[in-house]
Amino acid sequence: MSQIGTDIRRAADLLRQDQVVAIPTETVYGLAGNALSEKAIAQIYTVKNRPRQNPLIVHISSVDEIEKYAHSIPDAARTLVQKFWPGPLTLLLPKTALVPAGITAGSSLVALRVPAHPLTLALLNELPFPLAAPSANPYGYISPTLPAHVQQQLGDRVPYILDGGSCQKGIESTIVGFEDARPVIYRSGLITPEAIEEVLGTKVVQAESKSTVTPGMSLAHYAPRTPMWLGYELADLPAAISLDKIGYLAYSTPHPMVPRAQQIILSPKASLAQSAQQLYEALHRLDAMQLDCILAEWMPHQDIGQAINDRLRRAAHHIKLK
Ligand code: TXA
Ligand code: MG
Repeated sequence: MSQIGTDIRRAADLLRQDQVVAIPTETVYGLAGNALSEKAIAQIYTVKNRPRQNPLIVHISSVDEIEKYAHSIPDAARTLVQKFWPGPLTLLLPKTALVPAGITAGSSLVALRVPAHPLTLALLNELPFPLAAPSANPYGYISPTLPAHVQQQLGDRVPYILDGGSCQKGIESTIVGFEDARPVIYRSGLITPEAIEEVLGTKVVQAESKSTVTPGMSLAHYAPRTPMWLGYELADLPAAISLDKIGYLAYSTPHPMVPRAQQIILSPKASLAQSAQQLYEALHRLDAMQLDCILAEWMPHQDIGQAINDRLRRAAHHIKLK
């Protein structure tokens, strides 16, 4: 079992010894290790059971650190970090020699972000190295937004979980790179294309779904073990599945037929921000109910609803488009 606590010194000591520690961020919990140590990096991949060709995000303590790990930084990148760091934005930039190849899966680009969580920022300030951290879930499973999620999935392999409470944003950072200095979004998140366009005054493009720049994305799914059906009606489900074995993930109003105890309403007041914050916790809870399937609603496809729908799509085993 992992120890859970708020002892930054203890977390720092373990990290200095090349061990992994689960850390809170505003998006999801990360599985952190010394980003400059090949040994710690190897440990992250082992604990997560993650393929080595899927690179890791490097978490730094402030905007000032960017030059140590990235070069040839476009003006647009500087503008974005001034506006959005600390926060749920990851930038892909040409890496310096300081960044070990093991962290970028051999790519010349490194993913950098300053997370917005006071405990993790304090930890980063205490350490002489940045922290590599993928989400702290076994490869392919639902991302964690509470210490208990990490404990349940990785408790036997992570000595310490730094307890920063429930993650405030709830879904992973927006990943932005640059192609010929033009911004490209590789993973959608709570920093929307519109927000980026407003700050930069230029058009932002969405990466092709088959893009190979972010190797993990094509494979990544954030899925519960219970088969999830997205966008279907109750009547579409196989007849063999009885009503008391169906879970329901709703946006703002319950389903009239499904037993109420098997339903989770993401946001009764119909807030997309609250739905994002609640999404993974809801999936963890539904997955623990021993049901035969989870029926999930699409969120309104506007603003940050697009990023939530992206995660729902990756979590689903069956998808019915609207
Ligand atoms: O919000 C987040 O970004 C969280 C918290 C912990 O910071 N982290 C996170 O990490 O979601 P992870 O490993 O679950 O997802 C990172 C994604 C992967 O799809 C990976 O392929 C991509 O970022 N990535 C990381 N480094 C990259 C690189 N050098 N080049 C291209 N893609 C990269
Ligand atoms: Mg992940």
